[in-house]
Amino acid sequence: MAAAVLGLLIAILFTVLATACSGRGSGGGDSSAPPDGARLFARNCAACHGAGGAGDGPRADRRLGSADLTDPALHERLSDADINRVIRRGKRRMNPVGGLNQGERSALIEFVRSLRQ
Ligand code: HEC
Repeated sequence: MAAAVLGLLIAILFTVLATACSGRGSGGGDSSAPPDGARLFARNCAACHGAGGAGDGPRADRRLGSADLTDPALHERLSDADINRVIRRGKRRMNPVGGLNQGERSALIEFVRSLRQ
């Protein structure tokens, strides 16, 4: 008897959880959509690196600049793992960019690669 009640409770719990999850997926939230690298770049990187990645964003250091992400030499020098590390840990004058998960960083890396001239 107790086991039957417990089973029923578990079944209800799963139903509630499944409904909650599917509701979130279809409720306008884009948690199930793949991260959009271009949007993430505009939001997290363009202030310094510029909308096109040329290192000319409004927050780029006037004297020192920020890296030109269109430069083919930069792409030759850095592996995807290197770029991932730059975003996570920062590098020299660039501070780490937080609040991103690995999927978002991967989308960003793909977008950064697309900036290569
Ligand atoms: C606050 C300004 C700022 C923001 C925001 C910023 N960067 Fe940077 N970034 C820099 C500066 C400055 C450098 C040059 C670092 C140095 O060499 O001292 C740099 C360098 C880099 C480099 C080259 C590193 C190397 O080894 O030469 C990459 C790749 C890069 N940034 C990617 C990104 C990405 C992707 C984002 C967004 C997730 C981002 N940056 C956000 C300022 C910024």
